Amino acid sequence: MATKQDLTQAAANKEEATVVAPPLSPLQPLRQPPAQKPRAAVVEEIRLTLAPGPLKLIAACDLAGGIGVAGELPWTCPEDMRWFRATTLDQIIVVGAKTFASFGGRPLPRRTTIVISRLRRPADLPAAVHWARSLDNAVDIAAELRGDWPANSAPDIWLCGGAAIYAEALGAATTGRLFGHAGMPLGQILINVLSYVEGAAPSCDTWLDLAAVQTLNKQD
Ligand SMILES: NC(=O)c1ccc[n+]([C@@H]2O[C@H](COP(=O)([O-])OP(=O)(O)OC[C@H]3O[C@@H](n4cnc5c(N)ncnc54)[C@H](OP(=O)(O)O)[C@@H]3O)[C@@H](O)[C@H]2O)c1
Repeated sequence: MATKQDLTQAAANKEEATVVAPPLSPLQPLRQPPAQKPRAAVVEEIRLTLAPGPLKLIAACDLAGGIGVAGELPWTCPEDMRWFRATTLDQIIVVGAKTFASFGGRPLPRRTTIVISRLRRPADLPAAVHWARSLDNAVDIAAELRGDWPANSAPDIWLCGGAAIYAEALGAATTGRLFGHAGMPLGQILINVLSYVEGAAPSCDTWLDLAAVQTLNKQD
């Protein structure tokens, strides 16, 4: 017959079993992206200034708000890639774990990278990147990193996706919520809206709330 001690141990084991985290997915996209991506062109540049400060959002989306498919960008658009690179070069970028995986699990050259993840820890990431457990935590880390630069040349902090990070930032812009201990507002939103010009439009599986951006645009 099971003793009281056995039952207590069994209960503890069960509790432990329920809190064990699922195995981490590798820092690589799991699904196969389409072999041939459609070509897209920039048809609208949304440039919104909401508040002073270094915290900014940068994205590209299609006319329906699609931003990703199978862990990658849905399109090829060299014009947008050049703009993203020029805007974020030598700045701090903040990305979700899947967007970081879409970079091949390596930081982009000449950018200080903060990766947001609930499950991963610094040991799961390359030494050159910083780990944050939330968007507020990422903003705190970025604010501390900015302290290493002279005040007049400190880098901006670019929120570069994916969907949950864009949604949290756009929600904050709508409600006036501030980020981190410093109470930083989302200062700017830069979005290139793209249209497919060659090849079939893909079925995106990751989205940005373009309607929310357009509402903010009207209020600006
Ligand atoms: N068009 C664009 O401008 C653009 C920009 C960026 C990305 N993309 C595309 O979007 C897709 C990836 O975006 P996604 O939305 O699927 O993934 P994602 O946001 O890049 O990554 C999601 C992961 O990030 C972590 N995370 C996100 N928000 C968090 C939060 N608030 N607190 C803690 N952890 C958080 C979690 O990691 P853990 O599971 O490790 O906890 C979550 O599973 C790709 O297809 C990519 O190419 C497009």
